[in-house]
Amino acid sequence: MLKRFHPSIAALSIQVTATVTAGALLAVLSDSAGLLEWVILQGLLAGLLSFVARLPVWWIPMHLLFMPLVLVALTWNISSTWYLLLFLGLLLIYGKSFMTQVPLYLSSESVNQALETLLPQQQQFSFIDLGSGCGGLLKNLADTHDNGSFHGIESAPVPYVISKLRSLFGSGYDVRWGDFWKQDFSRYDVVYAYLSPVPMHSLWQKAKKEMRPGSLLISNTFVIPGVAPDKSIRLNDFSNSTLYLWRL
Ligand SMILES: C[S@@+](CC[C@H](N)C(=O)[O-])C[C@H]1O[C@@H](n2cnc3c(N)ncnc32)[C@H](O)[C@@H]1O
Repeated sequence: MLKRFHPSIAALSIQVTATVTAGALLAVLSDSAGLLEWVILQGLLAGLLSFVARLPVWWIPMHLLFMPLVLVALTWNISSTWYLLLFLGLLLIYGKSFMTQVPLYLSSESVNQALETLLPQQQQFSFIDLGSGCGGLLKNLADTHDNGSFHGIESAPVPYVISKLRSLFGSGYDVRWGDFWKQDFSRYDVVYAYLSPVPMHSLWQKAKKEMRPGSLLISNTFVIPGVAPDKSIRLNDFSNSTLYLWRL
């Protein structure tokens, strides 16, 4: 049932339930239990709940270890200002993923090399990277393709600022801060996406509506449910990326 909720609501519900239940159990069962026992029980319960709720498997260690790691961090006696600064930094990089469910991770070198060979070598073309991160992919492709115009759009502040600064120093691409759902895809010959499973169905609806016949949609790693790609290219990088290609 929890799977139907936004992941943050599901995570919060599990942590709160485990926290309260661990406290209640120890209050009833033991007179001498302390913070350590409570944290261990809380972690075990939270891990168990995420397993029972059939959340994706990576949630189990996250729930299991969350409260124990909070306890460990408290023993370090670090000023709370550092936690605030760390939180603000993460917020500026990953804050929007709360809504988009697409965090920042970067295309590998193998993906860059495969894309270089897929792009037109002679004729002019335009390319957009949806959620262009720190601009690394755009820079690499612009370096190898004088015949292309390269564009990026990024919603997370820190990656955007990094990519903007890079673009100002002769990187051969332009990048905008914004939401790619508001971007008109008909202006591009190649649309590249490295997102997550969550937006892929909507992305296909938008691509079908806006992309010109003959243009190319490329997704790194994530398939469009129920739509077989025209081509897929398996790469031998650390995350075993696959590029999926759809010719509109
Ligand atoms: C997996 S990263 C890919 C980064 C880069 N394209 C690459 O391949 O190295 C996805 C990026 O998309 C951005 N993003 C997610 N949803 C977005 C949206 N609706 N509009 C703009 N950027 C978005 C995220 O902030 C993140 O930086």
